[in-house]
Amino acid sequence: MSLEATQQQTEPVAVNFRRPRAEDGAAMWRLVKEMGGLELNSAYFYALFAKDFADTGLVAETDDGRLAGFIAGHRPPDRPDAVFVWQIGVAPWMRRQGLARRMLDALLVAQPADIAWLEATVSPDNAASMQLFRSIARDRGVDCQEQEYLSEAMFPNSHAAENLFRIGPLTSEFSKKSS
Ligand SMILES: CC(C)(COP(=O)(O)OP(=O)(O)OC[C@H]1O[C@@H](n2cnc3c(N)ncnc32)[C@H](O)[C@@H]1OP(=O)(O)O)[C@@H](O)C(=O)NCCC(=O)NCCS
Repeated sequence: MSLEATQQQTEPVAVNFRRPRAEDGAAMWRLVKEMGGLELNSAYFYALFAKDFADTGLVAETDDGRLAGFIAGHRPPDRPDAVFVWQIGVAPWMRRQGLARRMLDALLVAQPADIAWLEATVSPDNAASMQLFRSIARDRGVDCQEQEYLSEAMFPNSHAAENLFRIGPLTSEFSKKSS
């Protein structure tokens, strides 16, 4: 199923999913800047990710073109069976309505059949993010492996450790969709 074909209705705001385009980079950058909670990268970075990694990304927008949420992801070259969510963000006015869950569901459905793992790094102090990824695993009946990935000491600035969450294996059509 293509992302373009996936339309989600949430009350009272209708949100449509599609692949990102380079033009979306500016809105992604603005959303991250305004909402906080995510590390703000350069505007160039978001435009590049939206353009060159569109297959592993997603934007959720309202009928009037407001960005409600986005995913920027890639496939780690040494783990080609994984899709790695580098950033996922939901606008404050759309939170706790299941949008992040539905965006990840749509991302997984749009991946090639050989993708068996959903990965993300999560800071130990990000309760919402941890619960999001654990709930994705829980509802598919698969493991959410959690392991050290990038320690605090690796960062030159004050940056919390980033632990790797590895959800899978997502080997069947069933496990790519939530139950
Ligand atoms: C993390 C984030 C994407 C979740 O988006 P959301 O659309 O509100 O999440 P959902 O409504 O789909 O909820 C998914 C799960 O997370 C839980 N959850 C969401 N926000 C939560 C919070 N603040 N505290 C605890 N759990 C939370 C929900 O209860 C749900 O779990 P459940 O199925 O067990 O009930 C959003 O809070 C956000 O953009 N935060 C800032 C950016 C960030 O931290 N991104 C993640 C790191 S890349």
